[in-house]
Amino acid sequence: MKRSGGKMSFTVEKKHILHSSIFNQTLRDWHSLKCDITPKNLMYPVFIVEDDEAVQPISSLPGVSRFGINKLKEHLDSVVRNGLQSILLFGVIENIPKDEFASNADSLKNPVIRALPLLRKWYPDLTIACDVCLCPYTSHGHCGILNSDGSINNPSSIDRISDVALSYAKSGAHIVAPSDMMDGRIGAIKEKLIKHDLGNKVAVLSYTAKFASNFYGPFRDAAKSAPTFGDRKCYQLPPSSAGLPLRAAQRDVEEGADMLMVKPVMAYMDVLKSVKDAYPNHPMFVYQVSGEYAMIYWAAQKGVFDLKVALTEIFSSLRRAGADVIITYYTPLILEWLQLKHKL
Ligand code: PBG
Repeated sequence: MKRSGGKMSFTVEKKHILHSSIFNQTLRDWHSLKCDITPKNLMYPVFIVEDDEAVQPISSLPGVSRFGINKLKEHLDSVVRNGLQSILLFGVIENIPKDEFASNADSLKNPVIRALPLLRKWYPDLTIACDVCLCPYTSHGHCGILNSDGSINNPSSIDRISDVALSYAKSGAHIVAPSDMMDGRIGAIKEKLIKHDLGNKVAVLSYTAKFASNFYGPFRDAAKSAPTFGDRKCYQLPPSSAGLPLRAAQRDVEEGADMLMVKPVMAYMDVLKSVKDAYPNHPMFVYQVSGEYAMIYWAAQKGVFDLKVALTEIFSSLRRAGADVIITYYTPLILEWLQLKHKL
């Protein structure tokens, strides 16, 4: 330290500028508190099938199974004990028919409709979200109602999608999460929820920036929801589009979305950051999708990296980029690690 003309000036050797603030774990932690992963930052996607006693391992998603409701309980009991806060339900049907109106998306035979009251009763503190889409229940596998030329009929689609959302809400969902990407569905859902006095009892989590991605392959196998013809490029965002995610976020926020989502995430971290920066007051969700899960799983299996170290790095980066909640098939594993160490 030198005194010059009454002012103090410090001469700090350059090599001490950063190293002096990260020399032990507590000091390092102080730089990453915003990136912490706690149970509140995780949502667990689960697949429910019609047969109550089924456990169906999904070969394209190693370590993940579809469950009948009774087996789902056995599976979830320990995950809830480890601190699970929220789940995202996907129904998968095999025996009850699919048709062009997705009639079984919300019929009394639908596995999600049947599971909701039971899950509410078994796990009173668990927050339950339902994916709302028509593709697992339509004969053609598309996410909306089609015109005779195969194009999307927007008014019929959002009418049907909002009916399905309302049915899930009435059956006990805390959150409805439309993943179809149709224009106007958030407003249509909000309107129906309000009309049925569920406006302030059920939240809407919008799959806002959902891209027509390569990374959904294993999911379409898991949910048996691959389209029978064509693709989803007319309603999911083009992977290289730069301005559309923010326009989609603006559309959804104006229609009343409570929470926003970017999906997939690893190739879209810039989108995550720009949407969170534009809408800092909306909880921001990211979906680490099936292809991302499988890619990381196989890389760890092949010895590219240690799974835990890699996931810690990936999840903290997602948090740093603006993710409040990460939807991941790795949730049970991470909760187990958190139990053991209280920290990732
Ligand atoms: C349904 C839906 C999909 C996913 C979530 N909801 C598939 C798709 O749009 O093709 C993907 C989830 C994943 O890959 O893990 N519309």
